Amino acid sequence: MKIGVIGYGNMGSMIVNNILKLNLLLDDEELIVSNRHLNKFESLIEEYPEENLNITSDNKEVATQCEKILISVETPQFKEIIEEIKPFITEKTHIIYTCAGLNFNHIKPLFDGKLSLVIPTLASTVTSNNSISSLARRKGVTLIKHNSKVDLQERLFVEDLFNEFSIVKKIDNPIYLNEDEDNLHPKDNELELSTIITSCGPAFIAMMIEKFAQSCSDYSNLSKEEIEEMVLKTVVGTAMLKDDQELSNEDIINKVATKKGITQEGVDLLDKKFNKISKDLIRTILNRYEEVHEEMDKTYLN
Ligand SMILES: NC(=O)c1ccc[n+]([C@@H]2O[C@H](COP(=O)([O-])OP(=O)(O)OC[C@H]3O[C@@H](n4cnc5c(N)ncnc54)[C@H](OP(=O)(O)O)[C@@H]3O)[C@@H](O)[C@H]2O)c1
Repeated sequence: MKIGVIGYGNMGSMIVNNILKLNLLLDDEELIVSNRHLNKFESLIEEYPEENLNITSDNKEVATQCEKILISVETPQFKEIIEEIKPFITEKTHIIYTCAGLNFNHIKPLFDGKLSLVIPTLASTVTSNNSISSLARRKGVTLIKHNSKVDLQERLFVEDLFNEFSIVKKIDNPIYLNEDEDNLHPKDNELELSTIITSCGPAFIAMMIEKFAQSCSDYSNLSKEEIEEMVLKTVVGTAMLKDDQELSNEDIINKVATKKGITQEGVDLLDKKFNKISKDLIRTILNRYEEVHEEMDKTYLN
């Protein structure tokens, strides 16, 4: 079986490299990866000169040869890709796409076939193939949602693949009124909110580390690098306390902050100020999501 990938950017390259690093292709499977500029493939070809990897800048090649096609281009570019490959795909083609903000109804007028939306995260990047235990190497959460044309085997193909290097969270289809996929129940924003956490999350966490490290460095003679290293180890160690030892946030705070001690002052300050920042953050992004949906409505449905 040939598996196609169109778009070798941040997400496309993360997925392709994870597949190759973890040896996830079966003997009879082959990857065909296309990207607009071929120079992006230089290090990939060097690292994996195997026969089961083909690269191209011709999306039609992917479309004619592959029944499973993962499209990972920027959201506005998705439309031209579908229009380009449409003459070469069949009703058996399963399109798996990572484009945030683009829902099945946007795509339906262009391609009314099997669709899976996958929202991956940079946090799932596999850095070494030494972590054989799948539990140890699975990082980050991938969100997955299928349309009703995707059968069980096809669902499992996608979910099993992403389960190899991340934790898969399935987003159920919202309630359909009259079984009509165009007629979505308006309350559903599980996908958007989960995307903010899992996919935008690494950027927000990196920004918080950056700001915290910068403030610490403003008040000391330590170098920013030394400080970042300390912050990073502390973040990872704290995450492990929750993940491995299942300590609650409250447990951790109580174990660190003694009443009227230094830490408690900081905890109280964060308690007061952080609520507003995180609410503003979520509101801002949900608003942006709405704008993107409107932009997509204009592009795809008019
Ligand atoms: N970045 C994230 O953390 C993240 C997380 C979840 C979902 N997403 C979604 O995933 C999608 C991709 O994001 P990204 O960050 O990977 O974007 P990106 O780094 O900009 O990658 C897009 C890739 O698509 C290629 N491309 C553009 N037009 C093409 C065409 N006509 N034919 C073949 N290749 C083409 C680009 O090639 P050239 O560079 O050669 O032009 C580029 O390598 C977006 O829709 C985004 O919403 C991203």
